[in-house]
Amino acid sequence: MEDEITVREFCLRVLDSGDLKTKLRAPRNAAGKLLGDGDPGSPETRMSPTRDPELSLSQGADRLPRPGQLTDPEARARCLARFAHHELMAVELFAWALLRWPDLPPELRKLWLVTLEEEQLHCRLYLGRLAAHGSELSQHTRSDYFWKQLPGIAQSPHGPRAFLSAMGLTLEQANLDFTLVYRDGFREAGDEESAQICQRVHDDEVAHVRRAAEWLMRLSSSQEDDTISAYEETVPFPLAASRAKGRRFSVVSRRSAGLSEPFIEHVRTARSSQQLAGSSKPS
Ligand SMILES: [Fe+2]
Ligand SMILES: [Fe+2]
Repeated sequence: MEDEITVREFCLRVLDSGDLKTKLRAPRNAAGKLLGDGDPGSPETRMSPTRDPELSLSQGADRLPRPGQLTDPEARARCLARFAHHELMAVELFAWALLRWPDLPPELRKLWLVTLEEEQLHCRLYLGRLAAHGSELSQHTRSDYFWKQLPGIAQSPHGPRAFLSAMGLTLEQANLDFTLVYRDGFREAGDEESAQICQRVHDDEVAHVRRAAEWLMRLSSSQEDDTISAYEETVPFPLAASRAKGRRFSVVSRRSAGLSEPFIEHVRTARSSQQLAGSSKPS
């Protein structure tokens, strides 16, 4: 049996191995304990992950089927593949963050590792449903959407706070809405198993958003004593509050994640620059 690897070596494997099996291997030793993080080393960055050809990234993606189209099994498969791939990119980005900031408090690094493992589980759950539809990830477009945010995070002067705002408080916060919308879509289409996986992912996502919000404040100075100012200060363009939500806005999920009422309202009413430009045009 191989010697136990460290968190750092584990994260390097996630990013530098191209195959799904390695990327989805749990960060635990043979006894089932989380890997040790005693030697986090010096900062490492990657601007893209290694991917085998059948998992290669593409720019952009086809339109996601609407919840009402999920009676078509082919549309369900396309959604499941999209969601599985989002989870895979989340796995890679948490590995990226652990390599990029070795000096963060051990408590936060451990939370990121636990979160990474949950993203692996989500990916596997969606892949299982995709397989039940007779399909696999290699047969679908794999948009680089999460990785496209990486330059903004990597170049931000706000370091790990930019990561928390981008990943936790924008992409994962938006997923609170998407998971519920698609849960209902799968359920109405009679695919209860996929619906339950959306619910499971949603419930974990509540915890991920909570961790991000708490740590954003713990790493912020006392001048930025509210989430709105800390978020607006650190969220890397082109991400923004207007991207931290889906079409059906769940206040309840955000309250469960411990977000403050002013921040929830800030996100609920946020409009994209396109929307603002549209509304200022003479009619
Ligand atoms: Fe996830
Ligand atoms: Fe997550």
